[in-house]
Amino acid sequence: MTAASSVAESVGESVLDCVGGTPVVALRRLFPDPGTEVVAKLELLNPSGSMKDRSARYIVESGLRDGSIPPGSTLVESSSGNFGIALAVAARVHGLSFSCVVDPKTTTANLALLRSLGVDVEVVTEPDEAGGYLQTRIRRVRELLARTPGAVWVNQYANDLNWQAFYDGTGTELAEQLVRPPDYLFAAVSTTGSILGCSRRLRERFPDLRVVAVDAVGSVIFGGTAGRREIPGIGSSRVPELCSPDEIDQVVRVDDVDAALGCRELLATEGIFAGGSTGSVVAAIRRTLPSLPTPCRVLAIFPDRGDRYLDLVYDDDWLAAARSRRASPDLSA
Ligand SMILES: Cc1ncc(COP(=O)(O)O)c(C=O)c1O
Repeated sequence: MTAASSVAESVGESVLDCVGGTPVVALRRLFPDPGTEVVAKLELLNPSGSMKDRSARYIVESGLRDGSIPPGSTLVESSSGNFGIALAVAARVHGLSFSCVVDPKTTTANLALLRSLGVDVEVVTEPDEAGGYLQTRIRRVRELLARTPGAVWVNQYANDLNWQAFYDGTGTELAEQLVRPPDYLFAAVSTTGSILGCSRRLRERFPDLRVVAVDAVGSVIFGGTAGRREIPGIGSSRVPELCSPDEIDQVVRVDDVDAALGCRELLATEGIFAGGSTGSVVAAIRRTLPSLPTPCRVLAIFPDRGDRYLDLVYDDDWLAAARSRRASPDLSA
């Protein structure tokens, strides 16, 4: 044995071994008030660019272990964003096929990324009765399941493994990373898997934690009527089966303009290049801070990186259009 081979190496089995272990940083430049400390968990540092790496890996590996996802089978899911990309990576690494149902609103960059990852991309083109694509996408998922032998629907909106991935992952890491208790958790919601998983784990260690869901204006997760919104990732046009409103202390709704301003402010002060829902979280904290008791510690989850939002929140023309939609909502339908 050589001297070199007796030294333990640190080499992962695949890129999936790089999921998790994300750092927490203080945001003292963005929120300098000495009475309030805001710290953020940088889930955007996960390998495919978002916290969805955690649920994709967890769901695929649990399924392979317990046999509910047979080796070589086909995954089916309706997702045009982070979860689709993360699932494509997990499927690739584990030799699974993946049929991903998307709609015409999916960005060209995400379509290219999914196709490069070997995904069978199924684009639905017909709007449903409500004028969106939600029902048409679900119908296509059911057709694919019926015609593909051994196909498995991941169904992140109803799959308990979704929140459990964040309970075991992000939540457990935070329970170890933080010594002083956070008073508030601010997290953006869509399936609600990440906020529920994080808060369920964190409340075991910090029972007084108050949980603030950051939703999009025009999302129906916590009631209200559906409306136009352009930032992907945050919000939903249906109530997820996982949703558990009793566990949420407060909901703050942020529109596209304030989300974009939050992203830009975060980049300009802290140098953190993040996606739209992170901007929503920043805006929600900014709006809520004056009513919080001091001293106070706020924990924020930053879900994804900014690269996929260069044509949205970081684009001045897009922001100008979002501002004029906000000024005259009736003209913009
Ligand atoms: C960028 C981004 N932020 C927030 C969320 C919301 O997370 P969850 O689905 O766990 O509620 C998602 C979900 O896709 C996301 O992609």
